[in-house]
Order: sequence, then structure tokens, then C-alpha cells
Amino acid sequence: MSDDKYSTPDFSHLREKDFEHVYEPAEDTFLFLDALTQEHDYIKEARPACCLEIGCGSGVCITFLAKMLGPAAAMYWCTDINPLAARATEKTAKQNGVTVLPVLTDLVSCLKTRLKHQVDVLLFNPPYVVTPSEEVGSSGIEASWAGGCHGREVMDRLFSQIPEILSPHGIFYLVIIKENNADEIEEIMKSYGYKMWTVISRRSGPEFLSILKFAKS
Ligand SMILES: C[S@@+](CC[C@H](N)C(=O)[O-])C[C@H]1O[C@@H](n2cnc3c(N)ncnc32)[C@H](O)[C@@H]1O
Repeated sequence: MSDDKYSTPDFSHLREKDFEHVYEPAEDTFLFLDALTQEHDYIKEARPACCLEIGCGSGVCITFLAKMLGPAAAMYWCTDINPLAARATEKTAKQNGVTVLPVLTDLVSCLKTRLKHQVDVLLFNPPYVVTPSEEVGSSGIEASWAGGCHGREVMDRLFSQIPEILSPHGIFYLVIIKENNADEIEEIMKSYGYKMWTVISRRSGPEFLSILKFAKS
């Protein structure tokens, strides 16, 4: 395995103009990469064959995972509601010598049958900012942050679908901020049989970010 398996993927092919339409990697993205680095041994032990990122944006997170685990170790799927994000992810993967399969869809809609009980590692850095509900549901750059009520409107739609897509030993990593209410999320996921851990937390300006992990207890 090369020495740079924990380095941030090269996204220098994406320019300022691209970031007018696609989420530019920021503190939340980099905290996610730190969490995945910290979780390397745990993830590797699970021998994942199928990985999926929802809301891939620039493609930095799923590309990082593919580099970290090895490009041939698993299938790397990703989805985004924003067509330009799907295209950016394709380029980021190529630039870093890995293959990812971007699908343009809402959350996991198009992949639900194909990936039923197949996903061993699921990543989601959702739009988590508290905004008016009317701002939720775009397929442009606003979809990167607009989370509606408590910043939860998009992620809440995913939780009930987790048991359908995760494999029996599947692991789900989620980025949240304090306002999203981790205790409530823990209760929801507990009702589906998942235990929650906080992998890492960090304050970044006004945001208190955490990366949560869920797996069957
Ligand atoms: C905070 S950005 C994260 C981007 C990237 N994963 C990162 O960490 O830098 C959230 C991403 O989720 C996407 N997204 C928002 N709503 C979505 C939905 N319903 N289905 C799929 N993707 C969605 C946005 O377009 C955006 O690319």
C-alpha cells in the first residue's frame, strides 16, 4: 500500500468556477477524512466489499476511502442530487487513480434494489445547516447545506432506509452539527437496532461538528 493512502485526494482539477455549483471541501469534509483515518483498522477488519457515499459533492470522501482501503478492495458507489457533483466526483476519482461509480439520484433511490443489504460502509455528510424548510430540495449548490428544520430534513429521510441498504455487519458514518441533536438521532437509530458512537468532534467557527458511527450492537 502506498504511503499516501491517508493523504487528501488531489482535487486541483476543480476550479473556483466549479465550486460555484459543487460543495468545496471544507472543515466538515476534512473532519470526515480524519475520522475515516482513525477508523481504518475497524473498517478494514469488516472486510468491506461494497462502499457507498451519499452526497459525494467533489468526490473527495469516497475517493479517500477508495485510496485508503485500496482501489481493488471493494466497489465504491456514490450518489448526489446535483449532476455537477456527480461529474466532479468522476473526475476526482480518475485524477487519483481509483474507480468510483457516481449515480444521480435522491439519497439512495435508484440503488435501493441493486444494493439491498449489500452496503458494508456508508458515508453521509448531509446538508445539516438549520434553514427555512422552503430552502430544502434544490439540486444546485443550496443542496449542499440547506437542512431545513433542525438541519435534519434530509438526513431524517435516510434513517428509515438504513436497515434496507446496510449489510448485516454494515457501518454507517454521518456528519452532524450540535443543532441536529445527536441524542434524538441516537434514539431513532436505536429503534432500527443500531448503536451509536461519536468518532470525533471538533469546533470549527460557529459549528460544533461530530462524526457519528452506527452499527448493529
Ligand atoms: C455538505 S455537502 C458534502 C459533500 C462532500 N461529501 C464533502 O464532504 O465535501 C452535501 C452533499 O449532499 C448532496 N445532497 C443534498 N441532498 C441530497 C439528496 N437528497 N440526495 C443526494 N445527495 C444530496 C449535495 O448536493 C452535496 O453535494
